[in-house]
Amino acid sequence: MTTACAPGKVILFGEHAVVYGRPAIAVPVTQVRACATVEDAGKGQGLLIQAIDLQLQHRLGSPISAEHPAYHLAATVQHTLQRLRIEHIPDLTMTVSSTVPIARGLGSGAAVATAIVRALAQHLEQPLSPQEVSDLVYQTEVIHHGTPSGIDNTVIAFEQPVYFVKGKPIEMLRVKRHFWLVIGDTGIRGPTREVVSDVRRAWQGQPERYETLFDGIGDIARQAREAIEDGKVKTLGKLMDENQELLQAISVSSPELETLIRAAREAGAIGAKLCGAGRGGNMIALVTPKQAQSVAAALRAAGAVNAMVTEVTQPQPTGHQPKNSP
Ligand code: MEV
Repeated sequence: MTTACAPGKVILFGEHAVVYGRPAIAVPVTQVRACATVEDAGKGQGLLIQAIDLQLQHRLGSPISAEHPAYHLAATVQHTLQRLRIEHIPDLTMTVSSTVPIARGLGSGAAVATAIVRALAQHLEQPLSPQEVSDLVYQTEVIHHGTPSGIDNTVIAFEQPVYFVKGKPIEMLRVKRHFWLVIGDTGIRGPTREVVSDVRRAWQGQPERYETLFDGIGDIARQAREAIEDGKVKTLGKLMDENQELLQAISVSSPELETLIRAAREAGAIGAKLCGAGRGGNMIALVTPKQAQSVAAALRAAGAVNAMVTEVTQPQPTGHQPKNSP
């Protein structure tokens, strides 16, 4: 029996603009995770995929529509078997579970897919590098989101803070001083696919305006990288607030997100912004460790269905050690 897990993630800076080639920063969130367990099964059973939380079962190879909730799980397994050059479906039972809330900007789809790829590859004794895992998960992200930048699969497969530019080699971030975030959940599903395609339509309608907004977001992500690497937490908070203004300007915020962001700032947060695709999902607030519990309480009082505190540190990677880009 083999079990592998993968964390959630938050985007600290640069969502949406990252789809258009600007840099973005994301960090893993280890308080939530997806896990997949693979066990040998009786001869002739084939490969049974089960997701207990979702009460789903699917036998690989049996007909499934693209709308079926198990479709992306089956696609991830298929892609992995192809990559491992396994021609005949092996007799296995794969059980998937996850504590990453679905459609809240925390990377639930990429976390589940990463856990599946890792568990299968390890069980079949062909472990893959983080880059290979990330590439496979990207294929599932395309099914989920249409035109993903690739940031979610990258940060989750590498499990490290990343500075990400689409199509460029991944760069790891040095976190000079640990910092703390409170992640507040609006309780509303953030429809990533729709929001990303709405932004595309708006960009097509007003290319100059949107290019300027994306440039602004890209500049903020570059400055934020410096602030993280120099340990300047106050600067980071100011940059979060500026990034949020630009996210409002591209119409991906929502009244519920704004309420939580305001509540966090009023409770003393150093900075706050939405994270992920927006129009629902989660927001993040940068806090001192002392403030963390009071900001979390203020978020709950303002309507957050959940408020989770996470520390952003220089990680001790498990598994493969990624190479830093020059
Ligand atoms: C989704 O987590 C982040 C977006 O920037 C889309 C993407 O990068 O693929 C909104």
